[in-house]
Amino acid sequence: VEPDGTRVFELTAQEGSMPFVDGAETRTWGFNGDYLGPTLRAERGERVAVEVTNELGEATSVHWHGMHLPPEMDGGPHQMVEPGETWRPTWEIDQPAATLWYHPHPHGETERHVYQGLAGLFLLDDPEAAPDLPSQYGVDDIPVIVQDKQFDDAGQLTLEENQSEPGVLGQTVMVNGTVGPFLGVSTERVRLRLLNGSTARTYSFGFDDGRRFQLVGTDGGLLPAPHETTDVRLSPGERAEIVVAVTPGEQVTLRSSEPDLGRVASSAAFGGEDTFDVLELRADTMLAPSPPVPDVLADVPRIKESEAGVTRDFTLAVRQINGRSMDPERIDEVVHEGQTEIWEVRSIDSLPHNFHIHDVQFQVLDIGGEPPPPELMGWKDTVYLEPQRDYRLIMRFEDFTDADSPYMFHCHLLRHEDEGLMGQFVVV
Ligand code: C2O
Ligand code: CU
Repeated sequence: VEPDGTRVFELTAQEGSMPFVDGAETRTWGFNGDYLGPTLRAERGERVAVEVTNELGEATSVHWHGMHLPPEMDGGPHQMVEPGETWRPTWEIDQPAATLWYHPHPHGETERHVYQGLAGLFLLDDPEAAPDLPSQYGVDDIPVIVQDKQFDDAGQLTLEENQSEPGVLGQTVMVNGTVGPFLGVSTERVRLRLLNGSTARTYSFGFDDGRRFQLVGTDGGLLPAPHETTDVRLSPGERAEIVVAVTPGEQVTLRSSEPDLGRVASSAAFGGEDTFDVLELRADTMLAPSPPVPDVLADVPRIKESEAGVTRDFTLAVRQINGRSMDPERIDEVVHEGQTEIWEVRSIDSLPHNFHIHDVQFQVLDIGGEPPPPELMGWKDTVYLEPQRDYRLIMRFEDFTDADSPYMFHCHLLRHEDEGLMGQFVVV
């Protein structure tokens, strides 16, 4: 922390290697290490700065996914960091407690940079709104970055050999860079902060014995109330915070089972028939007590449809939004600061897509005219788009204006994004 109170982080993108598969050192990239990066953590009201240094042989960028911040700090394709350079964005944290993350966003290269290992969590806390949830980091509050990988015969990561339509659908699923992971649990309840850090694969997380758990948070913060369920679907970039209870001495496995992708052309071709064990929980024979999950978690006032002054339409098909591919020189939408807007988003082909908007957290108004399910009642920045359904999202654009510096909106299946399924908006 600097004298003026700014909390300063350092991230250095560098090359490394990992013993992911027997007998091979897989070449990887990481921040401050071989693979992935440190968990950054800050409180609401704090000013933060990140010194991002690029020690790779090529330019990259670092985007703060889910963060409300000025566009020139956003780390999108317009804030590239050249090899050997340092970029120092700074902003004030002004949003609810949440599990956010960071990853590169170079135009056309995001899939490769993330797949090589550049990503990490950015946790936000709000001491004034902190319900009694498990919160001892690494003890009962656990980061769970889930990623799938495919290796070639030499044990190296390949993208080229993986030509499935949305990108890599790897057969090895790892957590925080560990293959075949387990977690020793020493408390009656454990909170898992799940991030789908994969480039293309959608998961449906649950437990091997079908036990119920509490979904307490989504992308942009805690839900108004816990939602008890047996499974939660996460497409690339989405997060979920869950609390699960264990009994002394037991073993139970977090698993992803056959995610329902909606009316895609071939569920099997997009991973909809795949099941993976993700993380084994091994409970101690003596467990420290945990308080029950509170009935009320956060104040999430619904944004009313009547507040919206503008409605915009976004139709996704193959690699285009509204018939256009990403052009870094073109501004697609001009938004007015202070405005509440409804974005009507739909995917009209039969491919899996999702939709991510920079700068804002939105609420799902309705899906195909129906109210959203409980898991979509909180703040979201990324939402899976079941094909042929209309998603109406409502959001408010506040605080930052810059006619020259755009934010992005795009599909977070990274090959789709890289190949053009992205657009730009400015707030003026
Ligand atoms: Cu997580 Cu524009 O990205
Ligand atoms: Cu897509």
